[in-house]
Amino acid sequence: MRVLGIETSCDETGVAVYDGAVGLLAHALHSQVALHARYGGVVPELASRDHVRKLLPLVNKVLKDSAISPGQVDGVAYTAGPGLVGALLVGALTARSLAWAWNVPAIAVHHMEGHLLAPMLEAEPPDFPFIALLVSGGHTLLVEVGGVGRYRVLGDSIDDAVGEAFDKTAKLLGLPYPGGPALAELARQGDPARYRFPRPMTDRPGLDFSFSGLKTYALNTWRESTQGAQDRADIARAFEEAVVDTLMIKCRRALVETGIGRLVVAGGVGANQRLRERLSDLMRREGGRVFYPRPEFCTDNGAMIACAGYQRLQAGRTEGLAVRVFPRWSLEELEAV
Ligand code: KG4
Ligand code: ZN
Repeated sequence: MRVLGIETSCDETGVAVYDGAVGLLAHALHSQVALHARYGGVVPELASRDHVRKLLPLVNKVLKDSAISPGQVDGVAYTAGPGLVGALLVGALTARSLAWAWNVPAIAVHHMEGHLLAPMLEAEPPDFPFIALLVSGGHTLLVEVGGVGRYRVLGDSIDDAVGEAFDKTAKLLGLPYPGGPALAELARQGDPARYRFPRPMTDRPGLDFSFSGLKTYALNTWRESTQGAQDRADIARAFEEAVVDTLMIKCRRALVETGIGRLVVAGGVGANQRLRERLSDLMRREGGRVFYPRPEFCTDNGAMIACAGYQRLQAGRTEGLAVRVFPRWSLEELEAV
């Protein structure tokens, strides 16, 4: 069975073909980073229009790279939410129309389910159950995953998502958009012993997160410094250490509380090298295993949507003819497949 996957929930147009027997056949991505850079963030209307321009050429390219014809596609999966409503509609309408024209089912996929199943694209996928740390620009979630569609949210952010905190802190340090990768790069030159930032909400029980205070802490530290290049790098380092340490503490707590020994790290911030190092150390010490998608499948992409769509199609979970998108949508609302 082969599924074409389409991702348009935010500022990346992603398309891929996943084959249940062979794995990923081809994938392509167009990033809108350059388009939004001068505004310092994603402009929803520009995002929608760019998806309209890029989506069909990418579909053609991916079919060509897969060396398959439309007649060999068994289903078309698309991100139905959460995300920007106009951007989601472009993907949903295109996917629904292609499915109609090719006389195959359309499959609605939850964007975060795509992220948390992304390690299944790799050579050694995790078995169920596992704990997933989903860290992106819009979400910070700890989820107990019992199977496809069986998600229990253990922890969430009460304010900024972790990627958002990276982006905002980077912005106030004068780094270009998107700030996360730029801040991580700068942190490499920082002295880890110079500043120690707080580890928010680690001194009380529970698995929720709060990151907005760290951004303010970084701003105040910056204002009180001499505002030189080394100060900037040291602050970036202290911020990254505080975020990574906080995530690690909460992951360890979730693993201990559930007795599960497998951890999946997904979402854009999952591409962060320092986070990967620290979590790999943790799992080595605890005798568990950690699974990551390759960095390009941590950030938004079509491959994770094709792969999640395949799992759902195989279980007979397809959509009717109505085109529906869900800008806000909890993982816990999904039905087990
Ligand atoms: O999953 P994603 O591509 O899009 C959303 O669904 O939000 O995540 C994007 C987020 C951005 O906030 C970006 O700054 C952050 O992931 N990010 C990083 C790194 N790479 C991407 N944050 C820290 N370190 C990185 N290496
Ligand atoms: Zn995402």
